[in-house]
Amino acid sequence: MTYRNPPTTPRKSATFDDYTLSEIRRAAATGIYDIRGAGAKRKLPHFDDLLVLGASISRYPLEGYRERCDTSVVLGSRHAKKPIELKIPITIAGMSFGSLSGPAKEALGRGATLSGTSTTTGDGGMTEEERGHSKTLVYQYLPSRYGMNPRDLRRADAIEIVVGQGAKPGGGGMLLGQKISDRVAEMRTLPKGIDQRSASRHPDWTGPDDLEIKILELREITDWEKPIYVKVGGARPYYDTALAVKSGADVVVIDGMQGGTAATQEVFIENVGQPTLACIRPAVQALQDLGMHRKVQLIVSGGIRNGADVAKALALGVDAVSIGTAALVALGDNDPRWEADYNELGTTAGAYDDWHEGRDPAGITTQDPVLMKRVDPIAAGRRLANYLKVMTLEAQTIARACGKNSLHNLEPEDLVALTIEAAAMAGVPLAGTNWIPGKNGF
Ligand SMILES: Cc1cc2nc3c(=O)[nH]c(=O)nc-3n(C[C@H](O)[C@H](O)[C@H](O)COP(=O)(O)O)c2cc1C
Repeated sequence: MTYRNPPTTPRKSATFDDYTLSEIRRAAATGIYDIRGAGAKRKLPHFDDLLVLGASISRYPLEGYRERCDTSVVLGSRHAKKPIELKIPITIAGMSFGSLSGPAKEALGRGATLSGTSTTTGDGGMTEEERGHSKTLVYQYLPSRYGMNPRDLRRADAIEIVVGQGAKPGGGGMLLGQKISDRVAEMRTLPKGIDQRSASRHPDWTGPDDLEIKILELREITDWEKPIYVKVGGARPYYDTALAVKSGADVVVIDGMQGGTAATQEVFIENVGQPTLACIRPAVQALQDLGMHRKVQLIVSGGIRNGADVAKALALGVDAVSIGTAALVALGDNDPRWEADYNELGTTAGAYDDWHEGRDPAGITTQDPVLMKRVDPIAAGRRLANYLKVMTLEAQTIARACGKNSLHNLEPEDLVALTIEAAAMAGVPLAGTNWIPGKNGF
C-alpha cells in the first residue's frame, strides 16, 4: 500500500514566496536580470518606526493659529558668497532629463518656485524648462558628465557633485535606447536610440584629495558664489560625511536605500546600501565631531513622504530633506486614472516601476511625444506646490506641539522609537524605556 500524507492546507514558503518564484522563472526564461525604477520595495526600518512625544507638563506647546513656527533654511553658508535661502526645508531631488519628460521637469520647477524651494537637474544636463521655471536651481555634476558644461554651471544657483545615490551606491545610471530621443541624444552628445550606461565613478578623481581639488576648481569657475553640495548614497555615512566636509563641501546630501532611481538592477536597489533612518545619526555625529553641525548643512533623502517624516528627520539633526518619488506622485505618477493603461503594461497603478521603458501612461518618465502631453506643467506644478504646503503645515503642527518656534528646534529628545532596530539606528530611546541600544558606537 502506498503511503499518502493526510490532507493539510497547502503551505507556501516564506523564503520562496510568490514573487521570488516568479523572479526565478523570469530569469530562467530570459537570462536577463531585472531593471526597474523607484526605490527599495522591501520593508525597512523607517520614520514610521519613530514617534514624536509632543508637549506635556515639562514642555509647553505653541498655539497653532497664533504663534509662528519658522520653516526657512539657508544652505551653503560655509564658503559660498551667495548661499541658498529657502522658505521650506524640503527640496526637489535631482532627476535626470531623459528619465523625465520636459513637461515633468517644467512642472517640478513651477511647483518648487511656488513653494519657495529649489529643484535640481540630473544626469543629462540642464533643460531650459527647468532653468526657466526654477527660481533656485541646483546643477548636478555627475560621473557621466552627460550634458555638463561650464556655461550651465554658471547659470545654476548651486552645484551638487554626485558621488552616489541611495538606490545604487557604487553603481552607475542606465538610460535605455527607447528613451534616447533626438533631444536627449543631443544634450548628452551620444547617439540616438542606443542604451547609455552612466559611469559609476568620477573619471577625474579617485578619492578625497582629488575631490578637494575638484571642489576648488568648481568654486573658481563660479567665482566662489555658488554653494557646493556633495551627494552620496547611504553606505558609510559617518566617513563619507567627514570626508565630504574635509574636502570643502558646503552641504552634504545623503540618500538612503529607499531612495528612488530612474533605472538600475533590482538586485542593487533591494540589497545595497543602508536605510535612510540608519544614515542620519552617523552623518550628524560626523558633523558634530568636526564642529560643523549646522555650519555644513545636511540634506537627507530616501522615502520622505509627509510632514511627519520631515519633522522626524529634522529632529534627528538634518537641515533639510529632499524628495524625488513623492514629487513625481504629486505630479501624477502612478495615478489610478491611468489604470487601464497600466494593466496593458502588465502592472497596476501604484506598482508601475518600468520607468526605463519610456511607456509611462502618466507621461512623466517618458520621452514619447504623445504620452508626455498628458502632463500639464501648470496644473502639475500647482499640485506639487499644494503637496509641499501640506507637508510643511504638517511638520509645523508637530513642531508646535513640541513647543518649537522653528522646525529646526526639533531635537532627538522629541522622539522615541517603536522598535529596537529603529531605536539603535536613530539613537533615540525605545518607547516606554530610557534605553538607546548601541548608544556608544555605530
Ligand atoms: C526618476 C528619477 C530620476 C533620478 N535621477 C537622478 C539623477 O539624475 N541624479 C541623481 O543624483 N539622483 C537621481 N535620482 C535620485 C534622486 O535624486 C533622489 O536621491 C531620490 O529620488 C530620493 O528618494 P525618494 O525618491 O524616495 O524621494 C533620480 C530619482 C528618480 C525617481
